[in-house]
Amino acid sequence: MLSTRSTRLAKSAVSRLLQKQSVRSMGTTKSFHLESKDNNETTFFDFTDENYERANRILQKYPDNYRQAAMIPLLDLAQRQNGGWLPLAAMDKVAQICNIAPVRVYEVASFYTMFNRTPVGKYFMQVCGTTPCMICGSEEIMKTIQDHLGIKNGQTSDCGYFTLLEVECLGACANAPMVQINDDYYECLSKETMIELLEAMKKDELPAVGKWGSLPMNGQVSCEGPLGKNSLFTIPKPPAIDPDRFKDGNVDPADVKKHMAY
Ligand code: FES
Repeated sequence: MLSTRSTRLAKSAVSRLLQKQSVRSMGTTKSFHLESKDNNETTFFDFTDENYERANRILQKYPDNYRQAAMIPLLDLAQRQNGGWLPLAAMDKVAQICNIAPVRVYEVASFYTMFNRTPVGKYFMQVCGTTPCMICGSEEIMKTIQDHLGIKNGQTSDCGYFTLLEVECLGACANAPMVQINDDYYECLSKETMIELLEAMKKDELPAVGKWGSLPMNGQVSCEGPLGKNSLFTIPKPPAIDPDRFKDGNVDPADVKKHMAY
């Protein structure tokens, strides 16, 4: 039998766990399945004809006995077709195409934060909160967005336009603080430039991204320092890849590196 102290400790551990779960489930972005009218076993999903063509091109990159290697690009395709999130039916379709058990797809879609298991807004803002961005002001950026839109971390605005999520390092630390909005990075942010971005999104006039798929908001070019560009003066050549490397269909697992041109 548990002593009174042990019972008290056990109860407080359970209550801490419940609190943690309720904090995690407060937001709208989830990494697990939530049964809803838009997402249940009867929900329909199929790729469009155009996306079936894309799916076939993706599958052609891999040998027939490695179809599951196409799982992540196919999930990405499904998510884009479905307005930025993955219902059960979309994951089941990917499992069917890859010829694997649906649970294998659920595992991947739940693990990678690039996949959303619940709907997100038209503008999905992921603010990096890891140390370099935090030191350079990411908390002020989060606060600016929250104050400007009246939403909290993990929530979507009532108008359905904005979803806000704090995430870990997105690999643009040299230009901290930064936010990823849908596919694009906006870097070297300040409170003022963040507000400019929010106002532009409200009018559907988000500035086009820069040449490198990334737009530092302070006018600098890419992640050059104050001395300008001082490395990578030439574009490295990609390795030569034999276009017929999968022509026989199957690949011996022992030869994979040779076929991937390592
Ligand atoms: S710490 Fe923010 S992008 Fe790396």
